Amino acid sequence: MPNVGKVGIIGLGKMGEALVSGLLLSQAYAPRDIYAYDIVPERYRYMKSKYGINILKSASEVASTSNIVTIVVKPQDIADAIQEVKKAPLKDKIILSLAAGISTSYLVKHLPKGTEVIRAMPNLACSIGEGMICVTSGKGASKRSLDKATKLLELTGRVLQIDEKYMDAVTGLSGSGPAFVYVFIEALADAGVRLGLQRDLAFTLAAQTTLGAGKLVVSTGEHPAKLKDMVVTPGGTTIEGLIEIEKGGLRAVVIEAVSKTAEKARHLQALLDKNLS
Ligand SMILES: NC(=O)c1ccc[n+]([C@@H]2O[C@H](COP(=O)([O-])OP(=O)(O)OC[C@H]3O[C@@H](n4cnc5c(N)ncnc54)[C@H](OP(=O)(O)O)[C@@H]3O)[C@@H](O)[C@H]2O)c1
Repeated sequence: MPNVGKVGIIGLGKMGEALVSGLLLSQAYAPRDIYAYDIVPERYRYMKSKYGINILKSASEVASTSNIVTIVVKPQDIADAIQEVKKAPLKDKIILSLAAGISTSYLVKHLPKGTEVIRAMPNLACSIGEGMICVTSGKGASKRSLDKATKLLELTGRVLQIDEKYMDAVTGLSGSGPAFVYVFIEALADAGVRLGLQRDLAFTLAAQTTLGAGKLVVSTGEHPAKLKDMVVTPGGTTIEGLIEIEKGGLRAVVIEAVSKTAEKARHLQALLDKNLS
């Protein structure tokens, strides 16, 4: 897939690194095409030595130099990052925010008139090109810009263009989802250890089983219940375990976990507006 122009990355934490890693892995981007900045010197030194990307002196330099300016700071740092970005001429650039709970209307309001804003919710698997990313555009952003941001993010995983009203739900499900899945993988592995398996072997079995099960859902398009039924032999072993899962209320716990996460994302914007106005 082709490179869509110089990419700027402001904030080189966990998600910023995942983006850099995914873009380089795609081979559409070389380190020389990525311009980045983080306020923490250890962080940008680490990124420079590990990936060889260009580290600039400020967020505004990153914004001046790149065509797509990606903001990957924590939601509470977004106002400071915007102040810096605003110092650069932003005509013909795309501002791409990956921050949870920060609406495009907030970004459009705080950036110069006419700035094209795209918002995305990625996840950590972007680092290996297996991310799930949802994108949406702010008022005034063209379809061309949305498609350009989509093409960029497609280098790091699967991208869906969605209505912004779903962004908090997406944050709860696919943005935070890997954390929930890791707890499940850890629990599966702990069960293996309880039954006498070595820890390494238990992790391998748990992780590969989760990967394979997910891939089967994606590649067959089947309802997960149908795939589950294919594992459950009448009167067999799996049904015994499923009864325990239902007794423990796993489904309700997961539904509640994703819902609470989405709710927090929804409240984040209100909190920020209150604290920053
Ligand atoms: N981690 C995920 O799985 C994930 C998934 C989806 C979306 N996101 C979104 O991605 C964003 C970043 O999350 P993260 O987990 O990568 O956080 P993180 O690890 O804390 O990384 C953010 C980095 O940005 C730096 N920073 C803060 N203000 C800055 C500024 N004005 N200019 C340049 N750099 C600045 C931070 O420094 P300090 O440490 O000094 O603050 C930190 O090094 C968040 O908005 C989050 O909602 C994350």
